[in-house]
Amino acid sequence: MRKYIIILALVVIFGLIQFIRPERNLQTNPSRYDIFYLTETEGSVISTFQTACYNCHSSNTAYPWYASVAPVSWALNSHINNGKKKLNFSDWILYDKEQQIKLLLDISEVLTEQEMPPKPYTWLHAEARLTDANRMRLNEWVNSKKDEIKASLN
Ligand code: HEC
Repeated sequence: MRKYIIILALVVIFGLIQFIRPERNLQTNPSRYDIFYLTETEGSVISTFQTACYNCHSSNTAYPWYASVAPVSWALNSHINNGKKKLNFSDWILYDKEQQIKLLLDISEVLTEQEMPPKPYTWLHAEARLTDANRMRLNEWVNSKKDEIKASLN
């Protein structure tokens, strides 16, 4: 009998927590401050960043269905907020040039060290996995972008 009460209590709690819904990270218009807004960057570099990084580092997340289910929704929300706090590609143009250079160095580091996209995420999101060739190509782009910004400082 006790076993059933516990199971019932868990089911009720699970039902109740569904009402606590974090606000969704869904900007409707494409951002005018995006790093790739009106850019001449080649499409494959843009789309690789978008599929591998934008769910956590932009103002627009493509939510899978299970993202609506608490407590998964809470965990995702906190990941997105933490990721965006460090780096938001959608707000890129709002960073000053020194910050942009610093962020590009960080991006290059996480790409080289294979720290991003985070492991547990790529288990679920095969499309976000980066090959070595992808990482090299993104890194090249990051370095040239950094040089371009540095040159504009002088
Ligand atoms: C599943 C969500 C997620 C994805 C996808 C993701 N990141 Fe992150 N990223 C985070 C979180 C969360 C943090 C903050 C980690 C922390 O504070 O320790 C972070 C931190 C960072 C940082 C700052 C690192 C530092 O040392 O402070 C950089 C740079 C970064 N990510 C780049 C990227 C790039 C580039 C991609 C795509 C190749 C990417 N991230 C994909 C969640 C993500």
